[in-house]
Amino acid sequence: MSDADEMLEYTPEVARRTADLQERVKDFIPSVEWPLVAPLIDAVNELKKAKNAVILAHNYQTPDIYHCVADFVGDSLQLAVEAGKTDADIIVQAGVHFMAETSKLLSPDKTVLIPSLEAGCSLAASITGEDVRRMKQKYPGVPVVTYVNTSADVKAESDICCTSANAVNIVEAMGVDRVILLPDEYLSKNVAALTDVEIIAWGGRCEVHERFTGEEIRAYRKETPGLVVLAHPECSPDVLANADYAGSTSSMIRYVKEKRPAQVMMVTECSMSDNVAAETPDVEFIRPCNLCPHMKSITLQNILESLQDLRYEVTIPDEVVVGARRAVQRMVDLGAEGRDFDNGVPVAVTVEYRDTLGPVVGVSG
Ligand code: 13P
Ligand code: SF4
Repeated sequence: MSDADEMLEYTPEVARRTADLQERVKDFIPSVEWPLVAPLIDAVNELKKAKNAVILAHNYQTPDIYHCVADFVGDSLQLAVEAGKTDADIIVQAGVHFMAETSKLLSPDKTVLIPSLEAGCSLAASITGEDVRRMKQKYPGVPVVTYVNTSADVKAESDICCTSANAVNIVEAMGVDRVILLPDEYLSKNVAALTDVEIIAWGGRCEVHERFTGEEIRAYRKETPGLVVLAHPECSPDVLANADYAGSTSSMIRYVKEKRPAQVMMVTECSMSDNVAAETPDVEFIRPCNLCPHMKSITLQNILESLQDLRYEVTIPDEVVVGARRAVQRMVDLGAEGRDFDNGVPVAVTVEYRDTLGPVVGVSG
């Protein structure tokens, strides 16, 4: 028997060490499956201690990761802030690649690992650094605010980053009448509905949130009178118009924990409802389920392998690191969290795509 096999046995010792964790996730992991899952959880937790590693997990991770191995959970902004503060030698990002890059930018001396190479993002894939250079060429002098859901080379072309938790405040902090806000078309439209600043957008979409429709929400409301609907601002303005509240993943969680609605629907990635439901048994969750395949490519098994073999290490090319770090650090330093997305008034927004922009002429990074 190999060391790894020995380590993964469900021994009385493993059962004892994981008993509290089992209690937390008992509604999501059937007790017959626990002897298979618990040894993995225990092995990850032991290895973290041995290697002085932390796991930063996004709110979309599955309950086994979120409740049983994560050291810190949160939305993109909270994870970025935590990455800059941790004393650990190793950060394992239980999230997607752009989040791991952000951690590396804010903690350049740490080893940052992403357990799966499949953990991309449709928004990050929608735009390149060259696309941003072409936007700047078309709109000279207009500040570029970039959503963190982008690669480091896109961040490097930007004046500042934002997340869904601080987007409106960051746009307004630019102190100008017109801002380029990249790359999520819907987030940009939802920001534009809340500010007098003119927004120029890019036509990127989150493949999870773009699938929800206002019609779907209206149908759920008809079926369940009194239902409270919370939506993420990567959804279309039509979805937000049909929601009771909209904000970042952590703002949605806060809403449920504070207001305890009898029946709630979180219009976002599936695992969010499971994670909050484990802590709010008095709230009934109605689940319209859209999975993010990138987030779901992270598993307990590949987190364990990541810690064992220190893979896959995230590195950022030298030519973009300074600019990208400046954009992320500026966002963190501004500390501009605190504006949610409900009560917006829809306005027309210019949306650019790769084929609406000309080639770059003499604009350097
Ligand atoms: P937040 O957690 O920052 O709201 O972002 C949601 C998301 O889609 C991350 O991929
Ligand atoms: Fe990207 Fe959307 Fe998945 Fe978030 S949920 S990682 S924005 S594809």
